[in-house]
Amino acid sequence: MRLELPKYSERFGAVLFHDVQKVYELDGGFQADEAFSNPFHVIRHIEGEKLYDIEKDLAIIIPTRNERLRLLEGVLAGIPHHCLPIILSNSYTDPIDRFRLECQTVDNFCRYAKKKYLIMHQRSSELARLAQEGGYASLLDDKGLVRNGKAEGMIAGIILARLMGKKYVGFVDADNYFPGSVFEYVRIFSAGLSQSDSPYSMVRIQWHSKPKIDGDGLFFAKWGRVSRISNAFLNRFISQYTGFETDVIKTGNAGEHALSMDLALQMDYSAGFSIETHHFVNLMESYGGVHVTPEALPAMQQGVYLYQIESRNPHLHDAKEDGHVEGMIHQSLSVLFHSSLCTEVLKTEILTEMRRMGILKKNEYPQKPHYYPSLQQLDFEQAEKAWDPQKHGNAAL
Ligand code: GDD
Ligand code: MG
Repeated sequence: MRLELPKYSERFGAVLFHDVQKVYELDGGFQADEAFSNPFHVIRHIEGEKLYDIEKDLAIIIPTRNERLRLLEGVLAGIPHHCLPIILSNSYTDPIDRFRLECQTVDNFCRYAKKKYLIMHQRSSELARLAQEGGYASLLDDKGLVRNGKAEGMIAGIILARLMGKKYVGFVDADNYFPGSVFEYVRIFSAGLSQSDSPYSMVRIQWHSKPKIDGDGLFFAKWGRVSRISNAFLNRFISQYTGFETDVIKTGNAGEHALSMDLALQMDYSAGFSIETHHFVNLMESYGGVHVTPEALPAMQQGVYLYQIESRNPHLHDAKEDGHVEGMIHQSLSVLFHSSLCTEVLKTEILTEMRRMGILKKNEYPQKPHYYPSLQQLDFEQAEKAWDPQKHGNAAL
């Protein structure tokens, strides 16, 4: 892959937020290119060999809930062979057992492709046992099962990836219509992660565009309704400390993102659809230098790098209803509002915006999300004893 170098970066304590990088060539060649020996080039060439080295240690977690099986199969087709797909499903099992259909679809696909995979249901007792035995009961609800929600599925996916010995995790939604864009996202993950010389790094995808039908033609929208708002407030969040206005954050809600396992295990998470915005808030809270804790010291010393990379493919996924979008705005802004770093001025701005949009009534306040502590608290050795991966796919065969 050939990637533009980030033009500028914003520092917040030990965290370096890099500005968006463009993809120049999706396939930049397998071996090193002499042309890149000159230190003044502005494009980074990441050889195929390097991408492969990361991808063989990369699990792609696919959270899914009642998505079309055809789309799920397309997503699998887009994932490079040497990555491990982990499908974390919260689909209904009654009256029709959709999860069983998903298992059949995935198993059939992977049998033909001779591909390793892992699949688990979010509400299964086996998954709950992993969290329970590992001493990470905060992921469980009052029925003793993993809580509902996308973030909860993602956290469970990280646990499984770590149990499978993976060094990186990436997330791709199951409702993507273009397998080619999934392939590009994964390549961007490996290219992005390869740039870091710290073990703590994250890559977030900025979609090139999201096509929509507009009259007789297509309109390629650049910004989603949710990300437009969360990016603006995340940038305000940074500026309130640096004193300089910035627009560095452009991926506030990036569902498609990847992390090094070291960072994924260090971070705290928040529930549902607030998780992606909370990544930024948590990085600033934990490694921004405002509050310093002993657990954060290794990452603070080595630095935490965040890369934002713009894809070339448009992003086309299943359209969800309007209430869903409002809910996502509410959840995204509430993690900012409830952060210990949020100033009174910014809180007032958030309240004003949410009331203006009709998301909150006059005397209402954003709901505090449920938070999950760092996965470092989970005892993976104990969790390992609580499951048999061979019952959930062929990854351990
Ligand atoms: N395991 C699991 N559990 N998966 C879920 C759940 C759940 O409770 N709820 C939703 N999902 C899955 C969906 O099936 C889909 O594959 C993915 O999570 C994203 O959900 P969507 O409902 O399609 O969300 P969206 O398209 O509106 O928003 C996506 O893009 C945003 C912007 O990039 C999500 O990825 C957001 O998190 C993201 O901020
Ligand atoms: Mg979607």
